[in-house]
Amino acid sequence: MQRFIGKTAVVTGGANGIGLGIARRLAGEGAAVWIADVDPDVATKAATFGAEGVHCDVTDPAAVDALVADVLARGERLDLLVANAGIGGGARVAELSDELFRRLMATTLDGVFHACRAAARAMERQRGGAIVAVSSVFGRDTPAGSAAYGAAKAGVIALTQALARELGPSGVRVNAVCPGHIMTDLYVAAVGRRAAATNRTPEAVFADELAAVPLGRFGTPDDIAGVVAFLASDDAAYLTGQAINIDGGLQMR
Ligand SMILES: NC(=O)c1ccc[n+]([C@@H]2O[C@H](COP(=O)([O-])OP(=O)(O)OC[C@H]3O[C@@H](n4cnc5c(N)ncnc54)[C@H](O)[C@@H]3O)[C@@H](O)[C@H]2O)c1
Repeated sequence: MQRFIGKTAVVTGGANGIGLGIARRLAGEGAAVWIADVDPDVATKAATFGAEGVHCDVTDPAAVDALVADVLARGERLDLLVANAGIGGGARVAELSDELFRRLMATTLDGVFHACRAAARAMERQRGGAIVAVSSVFGRDTPAGSAAYGAAKAGVIALTQALARELGPSGVRVNAVCPGHIMTDLYVAAVGRRAAATNRTPEAVFADELAAVPLGRFGTPDDIAGVVAFLASDDAAYLTGQAINIDGGLQMR
């Protein structure tokens, strides 16, 4: 399929993990892809599949606005935004520091807001486009130790819904995806933290978490990329304001 020929896409956090899978998928279907990431190797990684990699910290609204201005200066349109950048981490609320709470929010919620706002301005003006925000199943049902992360991800769903209502009349669709356990550095680190917090081995945590997945395997970045590409495409022309779990059946609601 080549659904994105002539389209320009920005993927935040696209240098690794889920975002990299999404960026590759959109590029593979013909999009001109810009990756915005703090990874120092972003430009080299993006170049391997013909994308543009730009150092951009989504916690900084001026940097995000400047990136979108560069994209518009180059191609005049921004057709697709995937607001994916996020970080993991957490602690029980009683032990959660202000610093960790703010750091998680700054990337995982503020960063999505900054990217969505910059894209909304461009897409409303051009009267068209699609936004996909990456939330999490933890934004719907939040385990102990993940209050800040879960609050940020629930916030991403709220932002998605409001923005879908605001931009619908301009022909812009806004949806979210809620990944489950996807095998990336972020997930491996999260399992390490959960193991330490519960005096178990990481292997025991992996086994317990896998046992809760009806499809019987962990997810891959490609599992997320396929659904994001669908949501970004005209195949989803009548779909907006939704948050879709991609989790092998972990949560059913
Ligand atoms: N892996 C999972 O199981 C899982 C589950 C649910 C949701 N998610 C979400 O999916 C998204 C991607 O996660 P992942 O597992 O691929 O993580 P990852 O750590 O593999 O990749 C995250 C990417 O975001 C970039 N990034 C971090 N902070 C940034 C910032 N301030 N500005 C720009 N880029 C920044 C990193 O450099 C990295 O390239 C995140 O929002 C995460 O919360 C992941």
